[in-house]
Amino acid sequence: MTEDKKISMAVVRRLPRYYRYLGELLQKGVGKISSRELSEKMNVTASQIRQDLNNFGGFGQQGYGYNVEYLYNEIGKILGLHQNYKMIIVGVGNLGQAIANSNSFSKRGFKLVGLFDVNPKLIGMSIHGVEVMDVDCMEQFVKENGVDIAILTMPKTRVKETAENLAKWGIKGLWNFSPVDLIVPDTVQIENVHLSHSLMTLAYMINEAEEEREKKNKSE
Ligand code: NAI
Repeated sequence: MTEDKKISMAVVRRLPRYYRYLGELLQKGVGKISSRELSEKMNVTASQIRQDLNNFGGFGQQGYGYNVEYLYNEIGKILGLHQNYKMIIVGVGNLGQAIANSNSFSKRGFKLVGLFDVNPKLIGMSIHGVEVMDVDCMEQFVKENGVDIAILTMPKTRVKETAENLAKWGIKGLWNFSPVDLIVPDTVQIENVHLSHSLMTLAYMINEAEEEREKKNKSE
């Protein structure tokens, strides 16, 4: 990757999908793939794939295609997946427990090291060997263990204060599920995840498709 070239977030957001497909190909023992084959599998145009990958020097050879393992590893490095991340979950209710119970993150190097809540009924409980601790212990835990990422699955009324504290304690990233737009110092990166936004987009697509069908029916 060239130092002076900033990759657009639109490209970055497509990389995890390339990474997943390439990982699947690797598991099937596929050694190389052309941008055309990759485009057919992923339902993205071949030129889009070439353009995206050219951002990082291409990785492909004319007439040969892409070396799947090399491309997979390089995209992993670009995404920062060659290193491990220590994560905590703040708010161990329905969503927090669902995330804690998923083992798909640890496979990618995201290690869950702590769970925090205010509810005495949850404190002391353990999920996959990780204990739920009182939020009062969170500052010490984050500092002592060098926690990288906090997953925020707590009520929205308390999330701003928690995010500000976590930023002060040296957290690098917040994976925010609460429906609040957080403002934190630029030492902290935020990725918001809102399933309802995705659902609303789906509703738009359904309605758009129905309108298209109606228009087509009328014109026939
Ligand atoms: P929940 O009520 O089951 O869990 C919230 C947990 O946070 C409880 O265990 C509670 O004791 C704990 N908590 C309360 N104050 C706290 C504090 N100061 N520090 C640490 N923990 C604290 O709620 P649920 O359904 O798990 O939702 C959690 C959050 O995630 C809510 O903000 C909700 O709006 C959001 N959410 C977001 C979704 C998304 O797609 N982004 C989907 C579903 C929920």
